[in-house]
Amino acid sequence: MYTAVARSSLAGNSLGVFKLPDELAFTVARGSGPWLWSADGRRYVMGAGPMVLGRAHPRGVSAITEQAALGAHYYLMNARAQDLAAKICQLVPCAESVRFCSDGSEANFYALRVARAFTQRTKILKFDGGFHGHSDYAQQKSRVEPGHNDQHPMAEAAGIPAEVSETVVIAPYNDIGHTRQIVEPIAQDIAAIIVEPVQRAFVPAPGFLEGLRALANSIGALLVFDEVVTGFRLALGGAQEYFGVTPDLCALGKILGGGTPLAALAGRADVLDVVVTGRPNDGRPAMMSGTLNGVIR
Ligand SMILES: Cc1ncc(COP(=O)(O)O)c(C=O)c1O
Repeated sequence: MYTAVARSSLAGNSLGVFKLPDELAFTVARGSGPWLWSADGRRYVMGAGPMVLGRAHPRGVSAITEQAALGAHYYLMNARAQDLAAKICQLVPCAESVRFCSDGSEANFYALRVARAFTQRTKILKFDGGFHGHSDYAQQKSRVEPGHNDQHPMAEAAGIPAEVSETVVIAPYNDIGHTRQIVEPIAQDIAAIIVEPVQRAFVPAPGFLEGLRALANSIGALLVFDEVVTGFRLALGGAQEYFGVTPDLCALGKILGGGTPLAALAGRADVLDVVVTGRPNDGRPAMMSGTLNGVIR
């Protein structure tokens, strides 16, 4: 049962898109390991994927407790941020440099902004059915015009301007031939190819990720792996280590924060430099900064 507070104050009586039917709904009282307990003592397994080590893992509890006593939100350089960035660079093949943010959607959004700033191009190629979070650029799918084979991008969600859809190109996952055909006429406009290396439950066909790497190289675009799900999971170095294909940038989230709001954009140092210096002929940095970018919350 939802509490009176949830009924009166939370939009749609929920915390996001996920909502249990009324007859199954319950209020969570606590979590431990894989389990959640309802206020009336029933036990469930649920979550959105960041709790690979389980809830209330003793090492997590002691790290959070220790840090809570040292204060949250330093905003300035701190040793924990440096240590975590160094660890990511040690483990993740593409990571020469890291900048933190708060969630996977942000990490992907920044990846696309950085790619656009670096290449000074506009368009993003994404794959139909790939999920990269809630940004206007990520919330795009393909629409097939009646009587045509052509696919056009359209926003999946309301509130996204049609102009944004015009900056996104959609290709079919695991079809490198068709992807090349889609890219060819607009190759000079494509800033980034973004892909979930394992798209939802679909594993990449042999040669698909390698084909994307070669395609990005040949047109001067950046290859972005959305490793929000696969990062530290398929292998410690993520899907890029597992499949042996190194992107230019990757988005990390979920288990990176182990249930706290933490994510990161990692990748080539020369590319990430655009968040600091901008491009020489432009001079404006690609803004990537936020109140909670400092790891310690
Ligand atoms: C592959 C992938 N990318 C991005 C996101 C968005 O991450 P977040 O919910 O932390 O914004 C998700 C969330 O499930 C995801 O599965």
